[in-house]
Amino acid sequence: MTSADQAGSYRLGDRTVRRLGYGAMQLAGPGVFGPPRDRAAALAVLRAAVAAGVDHIDTSDFYGPHVTNQLIREALAPYPGNLVIVTKVGARRGADAGWLPAFSAEELRQAVHDNLRNLGLEALEVVNLRCMFDAHGPAEGSVAAPLAALAELQRQGLIRHIGLSNATAAQLAEAQGVCAIACVQNQYNLVRREDDAMVDHLARAGIPYVPFFPLGGFSPLQSAALSAVAARLEATPMQVALAWLLRRSPNILLIPGTASVAHLRENLAAAALELPDEAMRQLDEVGR
Ligand SMILES: NC(=O)c1ccc[n+]([C@@H]2O[C@H](COP(=O)([O-])OP(=O)(O)OC[C@H]3O[C@@H](n4cnc5c(N)ncnc54)[C@H](OP(=O)(O)O)[C@@H]3O)[C@@H](O)[C@H]2O)c1
Repeated sequence: MTSADQAGSYRLGDRTVRRLGYGAMQLAGPGVFGPPRDRAAALAVLRAAVAAGVDHIDTSDFYGPHVTNQLIREALAPYPGNLVIVTKVGARRGADAGWLPAFSAEELRQAVHDNLRNLGLEALEVVNLRCMFDAHGPAEGSVAAPLAALAELQRQGLIRHIGLSNATAAQLAEAQGVCAIACVQNQYNLVRREDDAMVDHLARAGIPYVPFFPLGGFSPLQSAALSAVAARLEATPMQVALAWLLRRSPNILLIPGTASVAHLRENLAAAALELPDEAMRQLDEVGR
C-alpha cells in the first residue's frame, strides 16, 4: 500500500481515484505564466507523484498557457491506465498574463482541442467549466450556453465527464438541468468555509467536491490553531490542513499543489494522519 492509499478513494465520473491527488497549476512559471524556473524539477515532481500512487492530477491548458499540460505529457505519457487527468476550460490568458473569459462555443471547442493536443489524449476524462469570475470570486450568471457547447463535445466523444469550477449554488442547479455534473472544484480550505453548504449538498448526492487552494494557494495557510494541533500530533501545519479536509467530508478529493518533491511527499503522508475529535473541534473554530 502506498501512502496515498491510506485516505481511501472516491468515485469521480465512472472512475475511482484516491482522495489525495495532485494539482499541477503552480508548475508553470511565476504567476502561472510561461515556463517553470526549473523544468527538470517540475518533471521530477510529476513523476514522483505518480510513483507514490497519485492517480488524479488537476490541470488546465490555460496554465502557462499550454506549459503545464506539456510538462504532464513529457513526464508521464504513455499514461498509466489508472491515471485520471482533470482539466478545465472557460478562460484564456492575455499577453500580460491576465485571465480572460472564454465561454463562446468556438473558444470552448478550441480549448478542448488544445487540451487534447498538449496532453496527448484522444478524450478528456473530466472537463470542468470555470464559471464566471470577478474580483471577489465566483459571480452569478447563466452557464447554460457554455455547458450545452461542452455537452456537444461530449456527444462527439472528446469529453467523458463535465464538471464545474468556481460555481455558485444557483449555477450548479442550472447546470444539472443541462448535463450530468461529475464534480465541483471551488475554493475551500480551513479558513475559507463559504462553501460549507455546497460540500454537504454534494456529499448527499455522491458528487465529489475538489477544493482548490486547499493549502491557501499562493500564500500557504497560517493559523495558531493549525500550528498547535500540528505540534501536538507531531505533524506539519500543511499536513493538518489536508487531514482536516479529508475528515471534513468523504466526497472531498484533494489536489494540493507543489513544485517540490519534499513537499509532495509531506502532503501525501497526510493521508495517514488521523485527527482526533478534539483537534477537529479546535480546527473547526478557525473558519467560523
Ligand atoms: N479552479 C480554479 O479556478 C483553480 C484555481 C486555483 C487552483 N486550482 C487547482 O488547485 C490546485 C491547488 O492549488 P494551488 O496549488 O494553487 O494551491 P495550494 O495547493 O493551496 O498551495 C500550493 C502552495 O503551497 C505550497 N506548499 C505545498 N505543499 C507545501 C508544504 N508541504 N509545505 C509548505 N508549503 C507547501 C506550494 O509551494 P511549493 O511549491 O514551494 O511547495 C504552493 O505555494 C492547483 O494546482 C490547480 O490545479 C484551480
